[in-house]
Amino acid sequence: MDFAPTEAQEITRKSVRSFAEQEIVPQSRAFDESQEFPQAWAKKMGELGLFGVFVPEKYGGSGLDTVCYAITIEELSRGDASAGVIAAVCNGLVCEPLLRYGTEEQKRKYLRPVARGEWIGAYALTEPGSGSDAAAMRTTAELKGDHWILNGTKSFATNASVAKVVIGYARTGRQKHEISAFIIPTDADGFSVLKKEDKMGIRASDTVSLGFDGMKIPKENLLGELHKGFNIAMATLDGGRIGIAAQALGIAQRALDESTKYAKEREAFGQKIADFQAIQWKLADMATEIEAARLLTYRAAQMEDLGRRHTYESSVAKLFASEAAHRAVDAAVQIHGGYGFIKDYVVEKLYRDQRVTEIYEGTSEIQRMVIARAVLGK
Ligand code: CAA
Repeated sequence: MDFAPTEAQEITRKSVRSFAEQEIVPQSRAFDESQEFPQAWAKKMGELGLFGVFVPEKYGGSGLDTVCYAITIEELSRGDASAGVIAAVCNGLVCEPLLRYGTEEQKRKYLRPVARGEWIGAYALTEPGSGSDAAAMRTTAELKGDHWILNGTKSFATNASVAKVVIGYARTGRQKHEISAFIIPTDADGFSVLKKEDKMGIRASDTVSLGFDGMKIPKENLLGELHKGFNIAMATLDGGRIGIAAQALGIAQRALDESTKYAKEREAFGQKIADFQAIQWKLADMATEIEAARLLTYRAAQMEDLGRRHTYESSVAKLFASEAAHRAVDAAVQIHGGYGFIKDYVVEKLYRDQRVTEIYEGTSEIQRMVIARAVLGK
């Protein structure tokens, strides 16, 4: 595999970084405090084609590769991790399954507006009683005449109160994995937003629970084959986890950049703290782990572009990048000392924003389970 960046990948990094520095970073703290959804960021990201990075142009996307997608999420998250996840969900958890499993009509009706940035999309798998054991969901879908009727509650759905379309999952049979995927327009009868969560980090991203109360959606909104929705959910997460690895990478890179700047300015005992080996070794460890996380993330993205299954590679990338980011933000707070513990410096926010990368789209424990199954050949 070749990891030298292509021209398109270099341009993507430059343009997304410049957008993030000019339009996201200046408002980042205000949105973190207010917990308001950043509509202006979403509008601009959509207009720039950042919601459908790898979607072919004929479906309204930017027609770039998955490495460009990873770079996009990395650079947005370096600016603000909430911006990263808003775009990651639209690309990885909405456009990707519609592109892969949707009919031409579904692509025209639902993929195109998300890829063009006109709509925000969301993904609803988790429920109050089923997180890591996703197949234990209780939401049901029953076919009545020309409509599916869905009943149940979904939790922790990113983007869902501002979305126009949700890719949702419901039980369609008695066996544990007899689950189907559905395209849910959020104006469907019986769809409601129940509760907005008050979170530790990524506070500008919208995280809500959803009620499906006799929710009625057209028969043709089944996505993929009946009873094959669990496989669709898992294959989608294989791609989604590349996005979260990239988000962790962006947070870690910002932690390193901020720490480097601070270490060159701050003096103690008559010299810059960057001259102390205790600080240098922290910066060196951060840089090394970030490089490794980047290679793992881009490898998984390249495998997706080659059309090869990458369940293992995505889990390895997400596990390593999120845990490396944990160590990076922790070191960044330590390097900043007391200033790392107050909100005047962004590392306090990075410390909170990083934490969820070890939880959503599969906890570190689930990634280890997936990796171990592959190692053991199960
Ligand atoms: N691709 C395609 N199919 C897959 C697959 C994959 N990666 N992984 C499993 N499958 C298929 C299996 O082949 C099997 O299919 P068949 O019956 O046709 O053979 C079926 O799915 C069942 O597989 P398992 O027996 O392995 O399933 P399991 O019940 O043991 O679950 C698990 C496996 C890995 C633990 C899974 O439940 C899992 O990943 N859990 C974590 C859930 C998760 O990541 N949730 C995140 C929510 S989304 C989110 O966080 C979004 C956000 O807001 C940002």
